[in-house]
Amino acid sequence: MLIESYLEQVGRAAIEAAFDVDHPAVLRPTQDRKHGDYQMNAAMPLAKKLGKNPRELGTAIAERVAEDAAIASAEVAGPGFVNIRLDETWLAEHVSAAVEDAARDGVPPVGSPETIVVDFSSPNIAKQMHVGHLRSTIIGDAIVRTLRFVGHKVIGDNHLGDWGTQYGLLLVGMREFGTVEALDADSIVELERIYKLASERAGKDEAFAADARAELAKLQAGDEERLELWKQLVAASRTSLERVYERLDIRFDEWLGESAYHEALPGVVELLLQKGFAREDDGAICVFWGELADKYGDAIPKDLAKQKQPFIIRKRDGAFLYSTSDIATVQYRKSHFHADRSVYVVDARQSLHFKQFFALADLLEIDIALQHVGFGVVMRGGKPLKTRDTSGQVITLASLLDEAISRARARMDEEGIDVPEEDLAEVARVVGIGAIKYADLSQNRSSDYEFDWDKMISFKGNAGPYLQYAYARTRAIFRKGEIDAEQIAGPVIIGEPAEGALALRLLRFSDAVHSAVKTHHPHLIADHLYALARAFSSFYEACPVLKAEGEVRVSRLALVALTARQLRRGLGLLGIETVERM
Ligand code: ARG
Repeated sequence: MLIESYLEQVGRAAIEAAFDVDHPAVLRPTQDRKHGDYQMNAAMPLAKKLGKNPRELGTAIAERVAEDAAIASAEVAGPGFVNIRLDETWLAEHVSAAVEDAARDGVPPVGSPETIVVDFSSPNIAKQMHVGHLRSTIIGDAIVRTLRFVGHKVIGDNHLGDWGTQYGLLLVGMREFGTVEALDADSIVELERIYKLASERAGKDEAFAADARAELAKLQAGDEERLELWKQLVAASRTSLERVYERLDIRFDEWLGESAYHEALPGVVELLLQKGFAREDDGAICVFWGELADKYGDAIPKDLAKQKQPFIIRKRDGAFLYSTSDIATVQYRKSHFHADRSVYVVDARQSLHFKQFFALADLLEIDIALQHVGFGVVMRGGKPLKTRDTSGQVITLASLLDEAISRARARMDEEGIDVPEEDLAEVARVVGIGAIKYADLSQNRSSDYEFDWDKMISFKGNAGPYLQYAYARTRAIFRKGEIDAEQIAGPVIIGEPAEGALALRLLRFSDAVHSAVKTHHPHLIADHLYALARAFSSFYEACPVLKAEGEVRVSRLALVALTARQLRRGLGLLGIETVERM
């Protein structure tokens, strides 16, 4: 049940009936239940439109919507707000239905499922995954899980940066400073070392640099020997990446890196030339937005038309670029996967790249929706968090995860958490990894956020451990009462205000999930879970559960059971695990 859409519809119909206009109800949840559960704010904009008194309009809307079975009362306040209070019987009925819907907890699937490729994580193999890739990995995974849950067909693709200019350097560097045999489980660290040495050398040594370019040209021309070496490099780094993904419980359906498209790149350039979207300039093949705007007018986004720098498709030395392979990639996603949509979870600093490449895909009439899901920077002490410490030492992602786990363990000891000795290590793992993920996902992804261990690993406030703890509390109730939560069927009846507040919160889960899907904002789910945990806490303080009797006991157990399921499901959508006891 999507209450917000439902009430919006009720409001809209009332407006239509009263004033014969089609106008949104402008529905908002209220901050404070004192004023009701929702507010309809249509009267003010409508008053302007119709030239009437907003309070009178509000009164007319209120009278009509009050007739709906979902609405107990509708009252006009202030200049014309309509404050809505939901009918508790209606509320209880819908929460009871969600209790019985173990498969979906009452969350409806989307009306028209799509095939969606989510391009996320996508690190460059010559470099360690950096914090930006960690964000892409965590946010991308949450988006994949959520889209899938509402019924889309989702293909998670790790579009590795495994092809491009830097790989000439890597090939000569391998010869000079390392061997394939020396690549071990931490091969990304080793590759980065080699790459650094090689690029420093190339800066000083022109012959070395020329050698690197020649190697790249041979690789890109499909030379067998280089390709073989190349494959070994990619395979080695993939092994080391997979260890991190496994620890994070993240899987991909595809690993189609840039190199997967290298054979298609010349064709992309040809096509763009042939269509007249690109032209030669000083040996390079470029797209000039100003020129295209003159030709195609409004088909070119305004801000691009002003863009002075061309979008380069092939360099003067014949090398293809990130832009070239992104176009080949989207062609493939359309032709091979029949994707309706391709979503890119990539640092917001790449937004110009995506704007340009999306505009080009548009011109090429590739029939696919393209969305850049950008995100901000992780800060620490007011500066971007580095994957190197002050001494230049690389902070690996693996070491970051280790630290989270050992800090979680220390906090658990301080909190005196109730976990049997033999489970401590596992609980610390779940809490530590979950804390890192939740800290990221609970932020609006567009903003930068501060990496703060203490806030992150906290059993109070809006943090992963607090929510995992709330889940464990719900489970403890069933353990204590020796009740099988799966046998709980309700019905829910609402008596105490805390029961009503919890029921309403539970019913809002669907709206949170669907809003998160629409906007690719996982923090909307996190916000919901936090509010749910607090509503549960108030409920549990005010309403005895195991000590209650008869139908009240049944109802309260049902509220607890649905809370438990929703916390676990919601955290699961964020890629965060739970434990039964802590
Ligand atoms: N490898 C790129 C980077 O590290 C990210 C790739 C994102 N995906 C894409 N199709 N452009 O910056």
